[in-house]
Amino acid sequence: MSKASQYAQVLDRLQPLLEGETDAIAMMATIVCELHQGLEHFDWTGFYRVVAPGVLKIGPYQGGHGCLTIPFERGVCGQCAREAKTQIVPDVSLVPHHIACSSTTRSEIVVPVFDSAGRVRAVLDVDSDTPAAFDAVDRQYLEEICGWLNRSLPNPAFPC
Ligand code: SME
Repeated sequence: MSKASQYAQVLDRLQPLLEGETDAIAMMATIVCELHQGLEHFDWTGFYRVVAPGVLKIGPYQGGHGCLTIPFERGVCGQCAREAKTQIVPDVSLVPHHIACSSTTRSEIVVPVFDSAGRVRAVLDVDSDTPAAFDAVDRQYLEEICGWLNRSLPNPAFPC
């Protein structure tokens, strides 16, 4: 099955599951569950939430344990949060600031999650054991799914 077909099936499952849902953690947990099970090249799938200025804290995830806290100055996740744009890493061994939570990770994509005011409130991190696993198709679908979260992130006083 093509990558686009896998994503189409995941979206078909997610949309009724998330219908009317506005709790950020419930949405994140459901999104990572379906993405991780539905995409063959996903080996770690999880959110990191902005819990204080310049600080990411792990959120719902699937896969082996991930590091709990990432400052914006570190990692591909920190770069995504700083730059507020999707990061695609075809070969993590060539990225000195990459944080390796697993020795088997070969490629990565990290997508920013914005609130309704356009502030970065989380990032979606996906690792693959397959080299160069991520491309424009992943960016398109993951950015669409992350866009659904902005309805759940109304108040900067209560980071998710
Ligand atoms: N690889 C990420 C860290 C999170 S672990 O992969 C789950 C990074 O470089 O920010």
